[in-house]
Amino acid sequence: MLDIFIINWRNKMRQPLVVGNWKLNGNHQMVNQLILELRQELIGVDCNVAIAPPTVYLDQAADNLSGSCIALGAQDVDINKTGAFTGETSAHMLKDIGVKYIIIGHSERRTFHKESDSLIAEKFIAVKEAGLIPIMCIGETEAEKNAGDTQVVCKRQLDVVLKNVDVSCMLESAVIAYEPVWAIGTGTSATPNQAQFMHKFIREHIAQYSYEAANKVIIQYGGSVNSANATKLFAQPDIDGALVGGASLQAKNFAMIVKAASKNNMTSL
Ligand code: 13P
Repeated sequence: MLDIFIINWRNKMRQPLVVGNWKLNGNHQMVNQLILELRQELIGVDCNVAIAPPTVYLDQAADNLSGSCIALGAQDVDINKTGAFTGETSAHMLKDIGVKYIIIGHSERRTFHKESDSLIAEKFIAVKEAGLIPIMCIGETEAEKNAGDTQVVCKRQLDVVLKNVDVSCMLESAVIAYEPVWAIGTGTSATPNQAQFMHKFIREHIAQYSYEAANKVIIQYGGSVNSANATKLFAQPDIDGALVGGASLQAKNFAMIVKAASKNNMTSL
């Protein structure tokens, strides 16, 4: 019964979203060039799309994206609005320069910067309070997968947010990115079936807090998405686009992924 309810809502409610996470890549000239190429490649494409360049290039990217259909994302944010927090950037500052989406809880930040589930929950709230859209990354490591803990880990990462926010109003305009850590940057994506299984699990878990939010929340897949595997991933009923790393650094590759999401969107209407 729950399956039917959720899948029936899918076509009406959720537009796929493809976001390019540039990570620690780029320079002044490359930002200009890649955005110029992306603008050309994506003319007429019917899909929600964004790029997330490094913080230092966000303002430049905002200028380059002006008048295009490509939105701007940031890769991280601080929980504070203002004050003595050297080196940090607030959600309000990001909003001020035209950012729409903010990636939080990426596994690289969890690993290299020791970010905790509770800090990520605070970031989620800071992003929502600024009126921006969080892209909250969750996903298990290879060791956790091998131990059979995939669902336990993802549930724990989700619950710290779900238990601390008004799910029906905060999750409707939010994005979850399921990024199994073992698939990131390895060239080995989750299979469409593996990914769909987890996306359905995530959606059903959110539905225990709010049906409406579960049906509306965008759940992206991330981890070695490329132009060859995107179409099959996007054909899955609970996969609403992708968070793309390496393949987002070349305009043609990224555009092919966006077009795969756009095509799937058109055929599912
Ligand atoms: P890759 O697409 O390079 O595997 O990176 C995925 C990712 O981490 C996006 O946030």
